[in-house]
Amino acid sequence: MRNIRLPAHVAFIMDGNGRWAKKHFRPRGYGHKMGVQNMIKLCSHAFKLGVKIVTVYALSTENLSRPQEELDGIYDLFRSYFQKQKGKIQELGVRVNVMGDLTPLHEDVRGLLLETMRDTAVNAPNGLLNLCINYGARQEIIQAVNHAVAFGRFVDENSFKSLLYSAGMPDPDLIIRTGGEVRLSNFLLYQAAYTELYFSNKMWPEFSRRDLEKALVNYSQRDRRFGNVKKG
Ligand code: FPP
Repeated sequence: MRNIRLPAHVAFIMDGNGRWAKKHFRPRGYGHKMGVQNMIKLCSHAFKLGVKIVTVYALSTENLSRPQEELDGIYDLFRSYFQKQKGKIQELGVRVNVMGDLTPLHEDVRGLLLETMRDTAVNAPNGLLNLCINYGARQEIIQAVNHAVAFGRFVDENSFKSLLYSAGMPDPDLIIRTGGEVRLSNFLLYQAAYTELYFSNKMWPEFSRRDLEKALVNYSQRDRRFGNVKKG
């Protein structure tokens, strides 16, 4: 992994937990549990390799219409991750930021997320971890438009960006989606204008460190022109 051009910002669409669980004759909730473990493992690995920002799609606005039982299981995973595994988050040495509309979440879960953001706001030398929770790109864009209207001002690309959840961050260089589907599913639609996309047929819980490295090598070989012509 040495001497390759690494992306500064990698985002993950962690798809396939449910199918992975089914394949192993386990309930969907077990797939999410293993999914969180893999998320921690891969985020740590990405930061260790030198990636500065990792963004994960933990729950979309559309996911909120899943059966209550599945959602309750995911909320319990949030509780366990942010409460019982506080140490692991501190160990990562990263700032945790949440992107999304937290208002419909249970109050205790919302409290834990806000507390984690506050506790990790300083002394986070290893980078930034964005958790997209009840996140949807269309909702994010509409919210930004409404803010601009409320301020009574026209926007340009820079001022509009400052109204998004990702204000102040560089766009993702690479989005990795597992689970075999080839789409963005309402994830970072504004920010992904020139993002490189990588799709894997592996289900999220089985996407390994080695698979991540393969994706990073693949990224390093791409020619990013941003609409320009090749130089030299
Ligand atoms: C996609 O798999 C996964 C989700 C909708 C939820 C992912 C959530 C987590 C891994 C929890 C994140 C937790 C923390 C602590 C941030 P799917 O259920 O859509 O899989 P399928 O397509 O195979 O059904």
